[in-house]
Amino acid sequence: MSVWDERAEAYRQSREHSEGWDLELLVDWAGGARTALDVATGGGHVARRLREAGLEVVSSDPAPGMRADVVCPAEQLPFADASFEVVTCRLAAHHFEDVEAATAEMARVASELLLIVDNLWISGKDEEANHLRDPSHVRNYSADEWRKLLAETGLELEDERVGERRIELEPWLERTGTTEADAERIRVLVADRVEDGRLRIDRIALKGRKR
Ligand SMILES: C[S@@+](CC[C@H](N)C(=O)[O-])C[C@H]1O[C@@H](n2cnc3c(N)ncnc32)[C@H](O)[C@@H]1O
Repeated sequence: MSVWDERAEAYRQSREHSEGWDLELLVDWAGGARTALDVATGGGHVARRLREAGLEVVSSDPAPGMRADVVCPAEQLPFADASFEVVTCRLAAHHFEDVEAATAEMARVASELLLIVDNLWISGKDEEANHLRDPSHVRNYSADEWRKLLAETGLELEDERVGERRIELEPWLERTGTTEADAERIRVLVADRVEDGRLRIDRIALKGRKR
């Protein structure tokens, strides 16, 4: 069982994942489409919201415990070119081993839009905190890196938003089973972004259109 299978229920229940400006924005951006693929669906919050908005949605995730429709990594999507009008991927790319390959795959299977949301690169200190909290964290990317990733797949950047999110620090540490020793170090590393027990995270949303 992978760490993601062990965490599946926590992600399904997570308020942090089931709401937010970025989730509302994805639903808005996908408006008018009929079909969507939600890559790295985790607790399935994007897929659920898109279904509620009337889209026919397929979800994918490599961890069987996440109960996606298709079990596969983002780097190898078992779908034909342009299979879905919209492809979404929220709060997951920082876990991908090969983000270039994953972005190219997601762009390949989209016929119209690729919608990405992820946490932004803040600093080396923030990356250290993320690694300690979750060894499956690969890296957050800057807005420039994201623009380059989309451009490399031939997508046109139609819209881009950056916003902040305040998340409860202690549940965030608990969700990944952080040891107390690591939690102590993380609290020091992120101290300048914590207010009233809530951690500030900067997030980016990108709307890429197929040419
Ligand atoms: C934080 S959760 C995703 C949250 C979800 N998209 C949401 O909006 O609530 C991260 C997910 O990325 C998945 N994941 C990890 N490595 C992956 C990969 N290489 N390709 C696709 N998904 C991956 C994990 O299994 C996990 O379900």
